[in-house]
Amino acid sequence: MEFITYEVEEKIGIITINRPKALNALNSQVLEELDATLDSVDLDTVRALVLTGAGEKSFVAGADIGEMSTLTKAEGEAFGKKGNDVFRKLETFPIPVIAAVNGFALGGGCEISMSCDIRICSENAIFGQPEVGLGITPGFGGTQRLARIVGVGMAKQMIYTARNIKADEAYRIGLVNAVYPLEELLPAAKKLAQTIAINAPIAVRNCKKAINEGLDVNMDEAIVIEEKLFGDCFETEDQKAGMGNFLEKDKEKKLKVVPFQNK
Ligand code: CAA
Repeated sequence: MEFITYEVEEKIGIITINRPKALNALNSQVLEELDATLDSVDLDTVRALVLTGAGEKSFVAGADIGEMSTLTKAEGEAFGKKGNDVFRKLETFPIPVIAAVNGFALGGGCEISMSCDIRICSENAIFGQPEVGLGITPGFGGTQRLARIVGVGMAKQMIYTARNIKADEAYRIGLVNAVYPLEELLPAAKKLAQTIAINAPIAVRNCKKAINEGLDVNMDEAIVIEEKLFGDCFETEDQKAGMGNFLEKDKEKKLKVVPFQNK
């Protein structure tokens, strides 16, 4: 791999997009390497992923403008599909993915963060969908996911104006869950991932599936999705042990109450 590094720390996988000379912009090779990296994750041992960018300036500064500049209509569509396929793989990845946004998250950078389950960022983070200034629409899911995360009105404003927003505004509109000084971001992302990783893995995976799939259908169908995934947890070791600990009044092993990190 030239542009992606992947490390495993206990039950956490850390994927770093590593193309700092281009502020980690996504060209075809980066997308292909990211796809292969996701395929290589050992889902028997890794329970949560952290996705970040190399360096202190940029998470991902978008899709590669140089590569896109000469594309035909058909090639543009194919490039969009290439990004969308990888981002959808990330979104539907069986385990949770946390985006640790350490700087610019523009265009494809904002879009890849929105394909993750949870976004946290550093104080120097800048989010935006600048595509209309380049004569294109967002092409890696931005027109779809931004509205679902921050609401239609705010998404339309950001996309139509191509105006970037700083970390505090991203926090205010719910695009990120928390903002940290840059040096604290990765430790915070790992801590959050660990907090997830100590919970029952089948239950966590089923929660992700239930939330994601439920949001795509009406409530009557959504609650059936939940019922099936809820039922699927029963008879598992985790369910027997988790409920057993409660009933045995084992305070050490009882449910953990972890306060959400805030600013
Ligand atoms: N594609 C290709 N190269 C990029 C890039 C991108 N998206 N963003 C930055 N780079 C490159 C620059 O060309 C430059 O390379 P050279 O040193 O070889 O000239 C290097 O990264 C450093 O960038 P700057 O010199 O521009 O750094 P800066 O600090 O002055 O500005 C920035 C930083 C504001 C992020 C600026 O680089 C910028 O505006 N980048 C483009 C952001 C953008 O428009 N992203 C959206 C792309 S379109 C898209 O993503 C479509 C989609 O939805 C799929």
